Amino acid sequence: MPERKPGEFGYEDVSLQAMGGEPGVRRLVDLFYDAMESRPGAQRIRAMHPEDMSESRDKLAAFLTGWLGGPKRFRERWGKIQIPVAHRHLDIGATERDAWLACMQVAIDAMSVSEGFRAYFMREIAVPANRVMTRD
Ligand code: HEM
Repeated sequence: MPERKPGEFGYEDVSLQAMGGEPGVRRLVDLFYDAMESRPGAQRIRAMHPEDMSESRDKLAAFLTGWLGGPKRFRERWGKIQIPVAHRHLDIGATERDAWLACMQVAIDAMSVSEGFRAYFMREIAVPANRVMTRD
């Protein structure tokens, strides 16, 4: 992460607050998985997940809370995680990454956040999305 000044996205929990705090992250994740469950283009990545995605929802919300500069909820509940390692067993190429990011775009577009934060969030989330690819 480049150095951030007070008040900027990426500084302490400014991004978490811009998302609407922990309830906002939960809403984003619910919108994200709802999009994954309904978009034809996301069928392949949906099928990689367990039938019941409630734990997937809890885990992604917990992870993103810390990733946005908030409390490390994932570590508190499940211990240390390294995102690329957690996806090593999956077949993720550019198509799967793009399908995942498209669901995230649908989700963030439905959130009441500023345009500046929306653009920042999509730019930043593309970084780990590129790192979980296991081919291409
Ligand atoms: C870009 C394409 C991505 C795909 C296709 C994908 C797919 C998946 C799948 C299928 C699982 C469930 C694995 C299983 O049950 O065995 C999973 C778990 C998870 N993913 Fe992703 N993912 C992607 C990107 C990301 C990114 C960018 C993040 C974080 C910013 C993320 C965070 C997580 C977390 C926290 C888990 C739970 C890991 C655990 O069970 O310990 N994923 N992902």
